[in-house]
Amino acid sequence: MEVCKAYELPVEGRCGGMAMCATCQCYLESDTELIDQSDSELDMLDEAFFVEDNSRLGCQIPITKEIDGITLRLAPEWNWFLIKNIEQKSREFINSRLFCFISDG
Ligand code: FES
Repeated sequence: MEVCKAYELPVEGRCGGMAMCATCQCYLESDTELIDQSDSELDMLDEAFFVEDNSRLGCQIPITKEIDGITLRLAPEWNWFLIKNIEQKSREFINSRLFCFISDG
């Protein structure tokens, strides 16, 4: 994820590498051996959009010499749009409920 950010690629990395957002999702396209996925990475991918068998969270891939030559494809950029849109809709819903609660009040 940090490499992508350094090259200004469209990776949001919203949670700062805590495996809590999936905005760094990418697809492993090479035969590179990676460390096993942690439970938190698997849990996050269970909730993410556009997950494929080769999905990984970029922030959970340590930069080591063993991954030299790795090929990763970034998950669709509009993945982030969906997350933002869901957050916006949630806020609108909560705000409407708060308004109803306050106005019923
Ligand atoms: S930056 Fe949030 S899961 Fe990787």
